[in-house]
Amino acid sequence: KERRLSLFREANKLARDYFRQTLKTHGAAANARKYLARREVTPELQEEFQLGFALSEWNSLLGFLERKGLTPEQAVEAGLAVKNEAGRYYDRFRNRLIFPIWDATGQVAGFGGRVLDDSLPKYLNTPETLFFSKGRLLYGLHLARTAIREKGCVVVMEGYMDVVTAHQHGIKNAVASLGTALTHEHGRLLTHYSRDVVIAYDADAAGEAATARSLDLLEELGCQVRVLRLPDGKDPDEFLKKHSIQTWETLVNGAPLLFQYKLEQAAGARPLKTPADKLEVLRQVFPSLAGFSSEIEREEGLKQAARTLNLSWETVYGEFKRLKLISG
Ligand code: CTP
Ligand code: MN
Ligand code: MN
Ligand code: MN
Ligand code: MN
Repeated sequence: KERRLSLFREANKLARDYFRQTLKTHGAAANARKYLARREVTPELQEEFQLGFALSEWNSLLGFLERKGLTPEQAVEAGLAVKNEAGRYYDRFRNRLIFPIWDATGQVAGFGGRVLDDSLPKYLNTPETLFFSKGRLLYGLHLARTAIREKGCVVVMEGYMDVVTAHQHGIKNAVASLGTALTHEHGRLLTHYSRDVVIAYDADAAGEAATARSLDLLEELGCQVRVLRLPDGKDPDEFLKKHSIQTWETLVNGAPLLFQYKLEQAAGARPLKTPADKLEVLRQVFPSLAGFSSEIEREEGLKQAARTLNLSWETVYGEFKRLKLISG
């Protein structure tokens, strides 16, 4: 297994360099360079994030790896090539912009490849194996480590471009969970660096669902979680290209704690006309209150709920005790 891991790493490193070189110098990569310029990814950023390009050919990487002494079978093992039913090998990544994905020490662990147009799938990743698992990696962590420690805070985003653009705007404590909901492993990884976590997921339905699911887990790990809400369906990349860094920082500083976020989500989902509407909101947020380990947090939460629902604190506390009794 050790041998297979070092082979996996070696092959990925070779591929990273090959993709990188292709993007910089190959005539057929002109469209990719134009695409990056259009998205304001400067040559410096391309360098920092080791961006590359996979040609629109069936075995250009395979050929390169073979010249370096690797067999096609080894390329398949590294997730860089595919073997079809007829037994022929071909490059997994073709005609895609390449984002190397690193582990926390900066070793290349795999790739994400983006199409240059609207075709699907938008991103193709190294297949999930023992050696590569999105649930165990945070994109950009090795570039963000120092800034996370300095600022005492980490910003978790969804995607490659979010982190790239964040860096361009001086937000260097940003990492991405690569579209997947945060896992326990992600959470554990984060706590090695900071327990103050700001979630900056896309302001779309997928982003909101991912947010709701994964954040309790972070709190259980002892993190203080704040949830940034971006306006009108945007992700951090789009937001930062439209708005000033001051606007971003105002949003971050005003980001509500997880409980307040849940409260506002629950209250915003329905008109709060009848007592039953308000009771339903309380039912949704009481489990979080009951989960708090500190009485102070619980009291603060009860007060926030009372404010949001325009009720007295006694009433909300009364319902809290009553519903807790009912559910045992
Ligand atoms: N993702 C993926 N496979 C997909 C779609 C998304 O792995 N088919 C992951 C990628 O890591 C992507 C992240 O989920 O960066 C967020 O997805 P999305 O918001 O759709 O993409 P963006 O990062 O916004 O990419 P872009 O701005 O280039 O469209
Ligand atoms: Mn999205
Ligand atoms: Mn985007
Ligand atoms: Mn996005
Ligand atoms: Mn800007």
